[in-house]
Amino acid sequence: MTTGTDLLTLSPVMPVVVIDDVGDAVPTARALLAGGIGVIELTLRTPVALTAIERVAAEVPDIVVGAGTVTSPEQAKQAADAGAKFLVTPGCTDSVLDAAFATGLPFLPGASTVSEAMRLAERGLSALKFFPAEASGGAAFLKSIAGPLPQLQFCPTGGITVSSAPSYLALPNVGCIGGSWLTPAKLLAAKDFAAVEKLAAEAAALR
Ligand code: 3PG
Repeated sequence: MTTGTDLLTLSPVMPVVVIDDVGDAVPTARALLAGGIGVIELTLRTPVALTAIERVAAEVPDIVVGAGTVTSPEQAKQAADAGAKFLVTPGCTDSVLDAAFATGLPFLPGASTVSEAMRLAERGLSALKFFPAEASGGAAFLKSIAGPLPQLQFCPTGGITVSSAPSYLALPNVGCIGGSWLTPAKLLAAKDFAAVEKLAAEAAALR
């Protein structure tokens, strides 16, 4: 796996995961994998996120673990050092982009406008995160830009549910979608990893 475009082919759904208790990281990754999802985006939104990435990279080698919510150049480097295999950003600045390129890892930078997408394409990127998807025009937006920007593939994320997923996955410029619904905070707090596995299996069957 070497490009952002490859990331979009790993699974119909990229699970966007927030880990509060670091002990949940490995069982969550195992539950996703058991349900048929071979990728996990661990967001850098909690103090334990980097440790969670380290543990999953070391203990669940069969899942492709990446870092999400990368919003600073320092975080890009820290995530790579922790063992992340890819990076995801909600939006993009030049410094984050430069730092992400410097890691050598595949990454999905976020864009929510045509101009942002064009700027990222100018930097050689052909796979982007479309965020926040529902709030930025949803599937209709992506359908509208498939004509003028046919070289770009997207991972729409933000407000997508298992019910709205098919309308995105049917689009020619959508490689996969992102969502947090596979690992709700309530299930992780209850250590209900069997339920996570069930949600993962439902998501894996979307395509
Ligand atoms: C993200 O960080 O990509 C989003 O917060 C995930 O969006 P969702 O929680 O609406 O799925």
